[in-house]
Amino acid sequence: MCGIIGCFGTNGVAEPAARSVLEGLRRLEYRGYDSAGVAALDGCTLVVRKDVGYVDQVAVRFELEDMTGTVAVGHTRWATHGGVTQGNAHPHTDMAGRIAVVHNGIIENYRALRDDLTDAGVVFRSETDTEVIPHLLAMAMADGCPSLAEAVRKVCARLQGSYAFLALSADGGGTMVGVRKDNPLVVGFGDSQIFVASDVLAFGPMASRMAPLLDGEIVEVTMAGVRFFDVYGSELAKNSDAVDIVWANTDRNGHPHYMLKEIFEQPRAVCECGAGEDDSLVDAALAILGARQVVFTACGTSRHASLIGRYFFSKIARRFADVVMASEFGYFARSLNPQTVVIAVSQSGETADVIAGVKLARQAGAHVVSVVNRPACLLEEMGDHVIRLGCGAEVGVAATKTFTCEVIVFYLLAHAMVNRLKQGRANVERAGELLGELLQGLNGGLWKLAADLKGRDHFYYIGRGVNFAAAMEGALKLKEISYIHAEGMPAGELKHGTLALIEPGTPIMAICPNDETHAETISNATEAKARGAFIIGVSDLPSEVFDYWIKIPAVSPLLYPVLLIPPLQLFAYHMAVARGCDPDKPRNLAKSVTVK
Ligand code: G6P
Repeated sequence: MCGIIGCFGTNGVAEPAARSVLEGLRRLEYRGYDSAGVAALDGCTLVVRKDVGYVDQVAVRFELEDMTGTVAVGHTRWATHGGVTQGNAHPHTDMAGRIAVVHNGIIENYRALRDDLTDAGVVFRSETDTEVIPHLLAMAMADGCPSLAEAVRKVCARLQGSYAFLALSADGGGTMVGVRKDNPLVVGFGDSQIFVASDVLAFGPMASRMAPLLDGEIVEVTMAGVRFFDVYGSELAKNSDAVDIVWANTDRNGHPHYMLKEIFEQPRAVCECGAGEDDSLVDAALAILGARQVVFTACGTSRHASLIGRYFFSKIARRFADVVMASEFGYFARSLNPQTVVIAVSQSGETADVIAGVKLARQAGAHVVSVVNRPACLLEEMGDHVIRLGCGAEVGVAATKTFTCEVIVFYLLAHAMVNRLKQGRANVERAGELLGELLQGLNGGLWKLAADLKGRDHFYYIGRGVNFAAAMEGALKLKEISYIHAEGMPAGELKHGTLALIEPGTPIMAICPNDETHAETISNATEAKARGAFIIGVSDLPSEVFDYWIKIPAVSPLLYPVLLIPPLQLFAYHMAVARGCDPDKPRNLAKSVTVK
């Protein structure tokens, strides 16, 4: 939610920082895309250009590419406080225009701070929570703070909420300072430029090494180089790691959208998922087996993957586990204890609700297993055990390959619980191969189906067992990128209310592969068809009830979701395109939801 990046040219090379910042902003757009802006230090002058729109739209309108100077900060916004207006776009500056700030997160006590600042004569130019920061920094400097880093440290003591922000001061030849609390910030080291950004993805190809900041740590970049400070202001030594080139690659490889590319990456991702994670899987499996209660917590697509995971635990390892959506997790905190294992699932590893739940779990002494994709994320820092999906950067806002890989991780974890990891892996590899063959053959048919159904207003997705969670995910994909109302539900629930909504022609996706759920789901589809529904069957078996058949291959029964979700993703993709929507940037959404 909001992406920030700063760039500081360190050796006098005249490469304009704004250009690198702009490149970084394009790579951070998955975090928000309603407005964008850049502040660049040109000589002694701080130049700010910002507006509503996608990064490239603002770049063209304001010639961001041509901004000169070797120091710059930039922002791509997902509005929280204040509407989508030019004034509310970042960067925000102090009254003298000498300090610019870009921020990701929410300053919860901004109203009180704003009142104090207004009483002190500050005139605000935006409705944002962020704007208090440059004014507070300017005041701290005016009060005699010896450096911008020290001013940032002092100001942070007054801020409540979660934040990662960058401040750029025009004084003293330029100073850039970054700090974080509960939101990520990573420092990147290039040949002649230092970067500080929300994510390594932002500076991936431009930097060879990286060092994530921890909560409260401060990074200061000046012409003299980079320094790190702890929360007390003492200087810190920090190690850096090599930037993972594979992770940093955000090429679309000729696909019109990231989502399509990521859908087609799944066969390979499935086969490679969890490679090198055997020790983590076994350790986590032992922790789960030793626990009194096991709870998954996650949001959105990761929650749907967790719902499938709980069936695996029960079916394969006879272990009951609950799934609590992360935004509700806190309300169950009293039932957590040291005998609880919390499996926290988040591809980004920074979803605010998940992080908040894990904090509560840790306070209660529970054991935490973090399942993440993005390297060096917050959730990785917080886990007693960490299992990495390892499927590379996912840029499309709608999660695709990370969902499938989360499902695979839970399948492997359940097999590790019964000491059959090798068998689990063999099954997964077979599923990956089958998925590759399936996707090649399906694309055209799904495109046509989408063209036929693009005018429908409501879709229902039904399934039982693991396929019920798959139904929820299929429906989520459709609604988030094509803006069609879609509901996923257990097939057996249809007649307890939703059947009243079925009219002649209402499309129902009946997810009924050849497993223990097949016959009963077909019965439920037949009941809906009797009321006029248009039945799209997703199965390896044909049925008379199907008006359209999305044919998938047979696979080991519990792995059906791995074969049937990608076609549903592809269907949603074609629906979005057919309806003129941008599947990579759905309205009002962002990929990393770092606010509660
Ligand atoms: C947002 C995204 C979804 C994602 C969810 C959880 O809502 O738009 O695609 O599933 O966050 O994200 P996470 O990174 O925690 O898996």
